[in-house]
Amino acid sequence: MNKVSEFIKYKVKAKGRHGVHSPFVYDLVDKCFKVTLDESVLKDRKLFYDSVSCDDREIQIEDHGAGSHRLRRQRKIKDIFKTSSSIGKYGDLLYKLSKFYQPQKILELGTSIGVGTFHLSKGNPKAELISVEGCPETAKVAIGNIQKMGLKNVEIIQSTFEEYLSAIPEGTCFDLVFIDGHHDGYALLNYLNALNPFTTDDTLFVLDDIRWSDSMLNAFHEIIQNEVYHLTIDLYRIAIVSRKPGQQKEHFVVKFN
Ligand SMILES: C[S@@+](CC[C@H](N)C(=O)[O-])C[C@H]1O[C@@H](n2cnc3c(N)ncnc32)[C@H](O)[C@@H]1O
Repeated sequence: MNKVSEFIKYKVKAKGRHGVHSPFVYDLVDKCFKVTLDESVLKDRKLFYDSVSCDDREIQIEDHGAGSHRLRRQRKIKDIFKTSSSIGKYGDLLYKLSKFYQPQKILELGTSIGVGTFHLSKGNPKAELISVEGCPETAKVAIGNIQKMGLKNVEIIQSTFEEYLSAIPEGTCFDLVFIDGHHDGYALLNYLNALNPFTTDDTLFVLDDIRWSDSMLNAFHEIIQNEVYHLTIDLYRIAIVSRKPGQQKEHFVVKFN
């Protein structure tokens, strides 16, 4: 994949709220994207970021995914924060989705040190949030961060995605799923299939790093073509996908600043 031409193609196609005729996408852009972070959340986030951004401790990484293009197996927490966490507009987006759509049950595949978890949790403190992390030392750091930040609605499960997905208790139903780990297209499609019985037609799937590799981009193109997903939204690095069988199948390329 040529990332420069991918980005140019995205920029040329991306539309704002006036270019879309879907009520869901219009609301996403006009309302959800405009949600602002509460003062108390900004204050807590600053405390969180101040502590992890200068955390020199090194941990041993057990890699269960496609690996990081940039980091070695022994990693400093401050480097994980900088290179593998949902910071900036990506963390904001998770908060906004959680706050605007008020999901009751959220699943995050790939906790890392808990930055995405923080935003999802703060967006809707009433939601029950399960976050799955395969690397034991990383999961331990995340658990410490979640406790330090006083996030009461979060359960971090140390497990591979595959093991977790094969043992989800019957009757579990997630309204928002954030898939952010094991950036391999084949694995992504398998995770979506495995989650089918544990999600509704309106569940929002947030897929990170859809342009991480050819395999991820090919998987996203398969999802766009798949008759099951009537709503697919391309935000360049991230995609939002939902089955929504009641609405006309449509793909949107949306501006995300
Ligand atoms: C990009 S990081 C997650 C970032 C986090 N979601 C955030 O928003 O800040 C991906 C994480 O997924 C974990 N991971 C990757 N593949 C996995 C797998 N198959 N099972 C369990 N964990 C996995 C990695 O250990 C890593 O910590």
